[in-house]
Amino acid sequence: MKELVFATNNQHKTQEVRNLLMNEYSVLNLNDIGCDTDIPETGDTFAENATLKSRYVADHYQMDCFADDSGLEIEALNQEPGIFSARYSGIKDDRANLNLVLQKMEGQSNRKARFRTVISLIRNGEVFLFEGIINGTIRTSPSGEKGFGYDPVFEPAGYNITFAEMSMEQKNQISHRALAMNKLITFLKEQP
Ligand code: IMP
Repeated sequence: MKELVFATNNQHKTQEVRNLLMNEYSVLNLNDIGCDTDIPETGDTFAENATLKSRYVADHYQMDCFADDSGLEIEALNQEPGIFSARYSGIKDDRANLNLVLQKMEGQSNRKARFRTVISLIRNGEVFLFEGIINGTIRTSPSGEKGFGYDPVFEPAGYNITFAEMSMEQKNQISHRALAMNKLITFLKEQP
């Protein structure tokens, strides 16, 4: 069976993709290929950062590979935190990052935001990009205990609950990551 690397250390994400592609590909993650490099994400966009990761693996391991990069984009904040989502407050702390967003959004009437994921796939040396977007709004205070990151302040359009109040199954049906991942899976299944 063809092998494909998912440039992540997240076991949960790996397992999800493995289940979806089990008839077509053997999916390996960074741990499986013995890569413990902290691959630098020095790009200015999600696509650049995802491609830095997928290209690193393709170049160093001569294997087809995909990588994802995601974040929250808030219209009134010039699309911040964007690529800085994981460390917006200066540290990798979900609560501190979320509090900074709430502080910057104080008194702001435009609450529009979106989560975006870009997946970069390198297949036979060629780059393919897949994007997933979910639109919504930023609440004025957090609500819900589930999920991670900015989930407690993000209310997806068409719902009156936050991502952190949804079950994982419900979030996984509509999330930016799921949308991008579905596009990747569809593409891979169409390849000879
Ligand atoms: P990653 O590229 O998937 O690791 O996401 C980078 C950062 O974006 C995370 O550390 C979170 O702060 C934020 N983020 C991405 N996806 C989500 C989500 O589904 N919910 C909440 N925060 C997210």
